[in-house]
Amino acid sequence: MLRGFTNTLNSSQLQAGETQLRVENIQLNFGGVAALMDINLAVRQSEILAIIGPNGAGKTSLLNCISGLYRPQRGRILFYNDKEHEVTRLKPHQIARLGIARSFQNIELFRHMSVLDNLLAGAHIHMRSNLFSSLIYWGTAQREHIRFRRFVEDIIDLLEIESIRNNTVGSLSYGLQKRVEMGRALAMQPSILLLDEPMAGMNSEEKEDMARFILDINEEHGVTIVLIEHDMGVVMDISDRIVVLNFGQKIGEGTPDEVRNNPLVVKAYLGEEKSPFKFGQSNNNNHGKE
Ligand SMILES: Nc1ncnc2c1ncn2[C@@H]1O[C@H](COP(=O)(O)OP(=O)(O)OP(=O)(O)O)[C@@H](O)[C@H]1O
Ligand SMILES: [Mg+2]
Repeated sequence: MLRGFTNTLNSSQLQAGETQLRVENIQLNFGGVAALMDINLAVRQSEILAIIGPNGAGKTSLLNCISGLYRPQRGRILFYNDKEHEVTRLKPHQIARLGIARSFQNIELFRHMSVLDNLLAGAHIHMRSNLFSSLIYWGTAQREHIRFRRFVEDIIDLLEIESIRNNTVGSLSYGLQKRVEMGRALAMQPSILLLDEPMAGMNSEEKEDMARFILDINEEHGVTIVLIEHDMGVVMDISDRIVVLNFGQKIGEGTPDEVRNNPLVVKAYLGEEKSPFKFGQSNNNNHGKE
C-alpha cells in the first residue's frame, strides 16, 4: 500500500470514516461583517471533503479558523487523533504539529529557496532535535535528519518533481509551485490536508495531474483531504462529500449528487452574475472516485 515509503504519509490513528475534525457553531466577524455564521461540520477520516461557494462565501476564513490563523468569536474546533484536542485557541504551528497541514490560496513558499529546501522546511516541524540536543546526542539527531530526508525524497517521487528538486521555487511555473506547496504540506506528515484552491490558475493538463496526486494521497495513503475548489467538474469528480457556503452560512451538504440537486445551492450559484462556476457540468476527465 505504501509503495516503499520509508515513513507513513498519514499520521492519523483513526479508522476510515471516524470523525476526525468537528467544527461547532463557529462565528467569525470582521468589524460589522460576519464572515462565518454558526457553522457546523464534521470531517471524517480518509474522505475528500470539498468546500464550495461563491467568492467571499467564507471558505478561506473557515480554513483559516481550522489552521489557527483566525480566531472565531464563538464556537469551537475539535480534532481527534490519539485523543480529543480542542484546537480553537491553539497557534498555527501547534495545530500543524498535531497533524493539520495546509496550502494557501496565494502560494506561501520560500521563493528564493530550492524545492528540496522548501520540503525539508515542512518536515522540520516534527524534528525533535534542536541545536542543543544535537550537540549532545549527535547520532540521534543525524538519524532523525536522515529519516526526514528519506521521507522528503518519497514525496518528491510521489509528486513527480524530481527534475526540479534543485530549482529555486520562484523560477517555477505557477502550476509547479502549487504542486511544491502541496508537497511542503505533505512533508509535515499530516492527518488532514487542507487545500485552498490547489488548481486555481492551472491549465487542464496541470489540473488533471493535481487531481491525480490528490486522489493518490487520499486513496493510497488514507490522508483526509479538505479541498476548496472552484472547478465544479473536478469537485464533482473527486469529492466524497461537499459542504456549500454562501454569505458565511452553510446552505448545503451531502454527496455530489445531493448537492447538485439541492435547490438552495443551485439558486446561490445562478444568482451570481459573473459566476466562474460551470455548475452541474462534469468535465468527464474520469479521474474521479467511484
Ligand atoms: N482578514 C480579513 N479582514 C477583513 N475581512 C476579511 C478578512 N478575511 C476575510 N474577510 C471577509 O470575509 C468574507 C469571506 O472571505 P473569504 O476570503 O473567507 O471568502 P472565500 O469564500 O474564500 O472567497 P474566494 O472564493 O474569493 O476565495 C469576505 O467578505 C471577506 O472580505
Ligand atoms: Mg478563498
